[in-house]
Amino acid sequence: MLIKTRLRISNIAVLVIPLIIFAAFTFCTVIIIKNNIENAYHIKFGMNPFIDFANNGVQVMNEIEQDIESDPSYLNNVNYYNYIDKKLNDNTGIVIREDNSIKYESAFLKKIDIKQELPSFGSFLRSFSSHAFVGNMNVLIRQYDFYFENGNKGSIFIVTDTTYLIKMIKVFIMTEAIAFVLILIVTNIILTFIVSKSIITPLEALKNGANEIKEGNLDFELINNNGDEVSEVSKAFEEMRLKLKDSMQKQIQYETNRKELISNISHDLKTPVTAIKGYVEGIKDGIADTPEKMEKYIQTIYLKANDMDKLIEELFLFSKLDLNSVPFHFEKVDIVSYLKYNIEEFQFDLEKRSIEIDLKVEGRTKIYVIADREKIRRVLVNIVENSIKYIDKDKGKINIILREKNNFVEIEIKDNGKGILKESIPHIFDRFYRGDLARNSNTGGSGLGLSIAKKIIEEHGGQIKAKSEEYKGTSITFTLKKIL
Ligand SMILES: Nc1ncnc2c1ncn2[C@@H]1O[C@H](COP(=O)(O)OP(=O)(O)OP(=O)(O)O)[C@@H](O)[C@H]1O
Ligand SMILES: [Mg+2]
Repeated sequence: MLIKTRLRISNIAVLVIPLIIFAAFTFCTVIIIKNNIENAYHIKFGMNPFIDFANNGVQVMNEIEQDIESDPSYLNNVNYYNYIDKKLNDNTGIVIREDNSIKYESAFLKKIDIKQELPSFGSFLRSFSSHAFVGNMNVLIRQYDFYFENGNKGSIFIVTDTTYLIKMIKVFIMTEAIAFVLILIVTNIILTFIVSKSIITPLEALKNGANEIKEGNLDFELINNNGDEVSEVSKAFEEMRLKLKDSMQKQIQYETNRKELISNISHDLKTPVTAIKGYVEGIKDGIADTPEKMEKYIQTIYLKANDMDKLIEELFLFSKLDLNSVPFHFEKVDIVSYLKYNIEEFQFDLEKRSIEIDLKVEGRTKIYVIADREKIRRVLVNIVENSIKYIDKDKGKINIILREKNNFVEIEIKDNGKGILKESIPHIFDRFYRGDLARNSNTGGSGLGLSIAKKIIEEHGGQIKAKSEEYKGTSITFTLKKIL
């Protein structure tokens, strides 16, 4: 989930969740407090405050009204006051006031100085009531005004003790307020923690990853499938790590290759040099004491020097190809004629070794390709030389097959030589690679022939590959771009 969405949901949750919890809490506290109040009133006054508070006062007030209307003399009758007083609940009493003096007062009201809290004549309509705080008592006052027979202003007050109720309501409001604040704070803290954890944890992982890279360790994995913005960064980071790892491995590989290259060159150059040195010493020491021996020694020195020359030349070409500093002269080449011409060139050499060579053109005979004549000749020479070198049969055969493949021309050079070990095939185009079957023979070679061929073909935009069966033969196939 996106961080944006997560934050939005959490913002809504921060409002909604506390409200739900608060509503549930209020529901419970209302029930508890209501029960408490009811129980307390029941024990103390034998009544239900919520029902009787209103009813009792109103009923009695109605009754008084009717009584007075039917017989106004009741207003001067103390017995009537007592009668009314008894009808009222224990927490409710009456006060009868004539002008400013109290004519009658219920017993429990005598404890407090209610007189000065009573509203003046005509302050309220009958159905209205007022609240007052007298002494330690909260009271609810209902008022009924009338005139005494002598014309004096009279008021009947029904006074209800609401102290406990008010106290409980205050407790309730306080509890609710504190609970609301606490619920708000706690849910806020929890939600903020959850949301920030889901953002901070992957960020921490990213930081640790960056530190690992700083320390040079690239062997860790950073997985974050949260699908949010941070996971995008993590993915990019992971890609960067893999690329870095890859390039570091390549760097190491290059370094190893470079070392191998130097060691191979030194080794391959040392062999003929040592031989030349040996023969020269032989001549110096007079071992070649006959003209025949001398001739043989000089011939060997010449051949070894030739080997060295060839090796240096191959090395030079390879390194120039590697540095891309060899110019290529691409031109339009009639590939069939070109191959025929080159095969004729090889013919003489091949006949001497009783190796047959032939060209088979599958399809059209006039096909043009883009090629650098000299470089492709080099490729052909390197491949055919290998065939000559590795043919072990009495009757050698080299078949060159030319076929068209989409926008390319494919040239296959197939021999019936000793073949290449299966595990060597993927490496034969590597520089200095010499297969085991080749090493065991005395054919010589530096292992550069096919790597040079590969570089040239790739420079032409083509591909080169090998197929081989041990002891049966090898076929090297390369492609060149056709001119359509
Ligand atoms: N036609 C073939 N038959 C058998 N093995 C082959 C053939 N062509 C290549 N190989 C194997 O591939 C290896 C690499 O060939 P490549 O031409 O690169 O090197 P080389 O022939 O050993 O030396 P160079 O060509 O530099 O004188 C050879 O050593 C040999 O093992
Ligand atoms: Mg070769």
